[in-house]
Amino acid sequence: MPIDEGQIMDFEPHRQVAVAAAEKGARALQSHFGNILRIRKKVAQEIVTEADTESEKEILAVIRSNFPEHGILSEECGLTTGSSEYRWIVDPLDGTVNFAHQVSIFCISIALSFKDAVVLGIVFNPLSGELFSAMSGQGAQLNGLPIQVSSIASVTESLLVTGFPYNVNEIFDPIITRYGNCLKTAQGIRRLGSAALDLCYVACGRFEGFWEQNLKPWDTAAGALIAAEAGGLVSTFSHQPYSVDQMEILATNGHIHQEMIELLRI
Ligand code: IPD
Ligand code: CA
Ligand code: CA
Repeated sequence: MPIDEGQIMDFEPHRQVAVAAAEKGARALQSHFGNILRIRKKVAQEIVTEADTESEKEILAVIRSNFPEHGILSEECGLTTGSSEYRWIVDPLDGTVNFAHQVSIFCISIALSFKDAVVLGIVFNPLSGELFSAMSGQGAQLNGLPIQVSSIASVTESLLVTGFPYNVNEIFDPIITRYGNCLKTAQGIRRLGSAALDLCYVACGRFEGFWEQNLKPWDTAAGALIAAEAGGLVSTFSHQPYSVDQMEILATNGHIHQEMIELLRI
């Protein structure tokens, strides 16, 4: 739902809280990197570690102490409804499998929605020190400097990125068909293992496009806003408007969007 026209909202105080929360979560992640004691299986290939839960505890404590009336949707704790129309959407560790294998591609993703529209997003990789952020209508930044999507206009010249959901076995054929179509056409395809970073890398022009199906709101809420605010286009595979409740996402630099829609059509 769009924010009321003419309504002037300043989300800078919320952004500062989000950054403070991410820094707290990051300390928890750093203390466990290379040093995980417990890996619990959720479903299929999905795992959770003490790093996920401790990062989440730190992040939620900062949000709750600053905004006790806000709702929170967080991956490991689920939904806490609040008395206001604000809701935080938190992935305390996006890239858990990388983290568990000591691959340094992972991040914390924190978004804020107001009346169901995402208005603020931050994505922080504690090991690289990269902090991506965006506020609705105000552009996107990487460590405080403006970022924008690339200008490459064809998939043949594009570096794409995708991801595979944990239940890949249940929807194997459409995933592999779409992957094959893109692989035959693109300059290259990567699979980083963190949907939030995939979206931010589209935002800053490292990748031209990202697609994945079966994602959850906490995977995409912050990154989708960052990609859109950097000048990108974000939609479903069939070019419908994207919202965090959609389970498929295509985010591109805009120039290759229509070509990607055709490659993903099966
Ligand atoms: C996962 C990552 C991965 C994507 C999976 C997500 P998690 O999140 O974003 O890149 O392919 O679909 O579930 O479990 O590491 O928070
Ligand atoms: Ca995730
Ligand atoms: Ca996670």
